[in-house]
Amino acid sequence: MSSLPSDTSPTRVEHQHTDKGYVPVYTTAVVEQPWDAYTAVDHDVWAQLFQRQRELLAGRASDAFLAAQDAMGMTPDAIPKFDELNDILQRATGWTLVGVEGLLPELTFFEHLANRRFPVTWWIRKPEQLDYLAEPDLFHDLFGHVPLLMNPLFADYMAAYGRGGVKAHAIGPEALVNLTRLYWYTVEFGLIREAGGLRIYGSGIVSSKGESLYCLDSDAPNRIGFDLERIMRTRYRIDTYQKTYFVIDSFEQLMEATEPDFAPIYARLASQDSYPAGNVLDRDRVFHRGTGEGWAGDADF
Ligand SMILES: [Fe+2]
Repeated sequence: MSSLPSDTSPTRVEHQHTDKGYVPVYTTAVVEQPWDAYTAVDHDVWAQLFQRQRELLAGRASDAFLAAQDAMGMTPDAIPKFDELNDILQRATGWTLVGVEGLLPELTFFEHLANRRFPVTWWIRKPEQLDYLAEPDLFHDLFGHVPLLMNPLFADYMAAYGRGGVKAHAIGPEALVNLTRLYWYTVEFGLIREAGGLRIYGSGIVSSKGESLYCLDSDAPNRIGFDLERIMRTRYRIDTYQKTYFVIDSFEQLMEATEPDFAPIYARLASQDSYPAGNVLDRDRVFHRGTGEGWAGDADF
């Protein structure tokens, strides 16, 4: 724990020009959540987003997600205090939330996860950004990512992902691309098959009003059964809703699929082309074949 932010604006160190445009670069330090500095507007943004998403997610989000969020005691009344959530989370699965200024470099992020620390951006978006924000904020991280850390299987999966990330980082950039696709199509944009039908567990979806509707209701995207290597070969969208969502049968399936050493898989995939984000393959287990309506034609990542 170190420096205390002086107000409710994050400290950007610099902006870096990359192939994704100008990306803010933040300090990698863990910071104390400046809870007393949150304004009435900050708490109101939390309240509005919380209420809106919880109403929308009834019957859409995974039962495990909703139950975990309730068990943590998250409410719309005020921005939760990391310390209070940590008391509950540490007892449940041994995870700890740590405050950060924003997106972290990959290796720093992986090392946190491998040690069962989840970095949470401490600042929340402005009222004019309720519907979209290009980078993660407190609402995305806390509302979207943190609840499932209460689930023992998912908690183990996230730590295993962190250990896998440290390994992939040492192997090289192509391995990292493969692994990042797994995170994207599970942790951020995953669907799960439950007794009532398909449900959402991905954080990028549960924290977005538009995508919470689109991913289940729209005919446009594909909904395809989870397949580890298939996912590692599949490009994705960073600027629009996904063209394809992958559906797991259970969190056990996720954990089992990621138990083997990925090194031989990376080696095999290195000689194979990636799939465009919207393709359906003959061997896919198809829950829904997307119509492709409204898809942008370029720039799968
Ligand atoms: Fe995220």
